[in-house]
Amino acid sequence: MKRLLGEKEIQRGVRRLARKISRDFEGREVLLVGILKGAFIFMADLARMLAVPVKMDFVGLASYGAGTKSAGEIRLTKDLETSLKGKDVLVVEDVIDTGLTMQYLFRRLKARRPRSLKSVALLDKPSRRRVRFQADYVGFTIENHFVVGYGLDCNEEYRNLPGIYVIE
Ligand code: IMP
Ligand code: MG
Repeated sequence: MKRLLGEKEIQRGVRRLARKISRDFEGREVLLVGILKGAFIFMADLARMLAVPVKMDFVGLASYGAGTKSAGEIRLTKDLETSLKGKDVLVVEDVIDTGLTMQYLFRRLKARRPRSLKSVALLDKPSRRRVRFQADYVGFTIENHFVVGYGLDCNEEYRNLPGIYVIE
């Protein structure tokens, strides 16, 4: 495994995102919706750096079968516990790859009439897109690599690595 992003670099990126989001949402309360499981570490760091009041909820989505190959199909494995109606919602995702997961989730969440619906992704792999989806906030744009660490897994392994690594 080759290191792509170190701890310090990730923290700088998350802080950059937090500053921008705090400015954009000034005077409002944000409902962070984390996508389990990959986004849990990113969301924990981001939430603590935000200067606006925050509430949190999670959805469980499974898009990948085993290993690094997409199953091509998305399932909701855990729904929100909070109503989105009239709220300023920010979906927190670890990485946007084909865009299918976010497209699916945005359709479902829009139907619940939030006041606003935006997204932040720590990582973005635009070269892998199969549907049009652009996150409102992106930490790092990366090449077509399969990466692990900082919440991201390969067969549930490596989520706890503090840095982000490329699997060869
Ligand atoms: P998409 O639906 O193809 O955009 O895939 C998004 C989901 O696939 C993410 O939430 C991740 O769980 C998973 N994924 C995509 N790329 C990677 C990667 O490089 N490492 C680990 N998980 C990934
Ligand atoms: Mg995920």
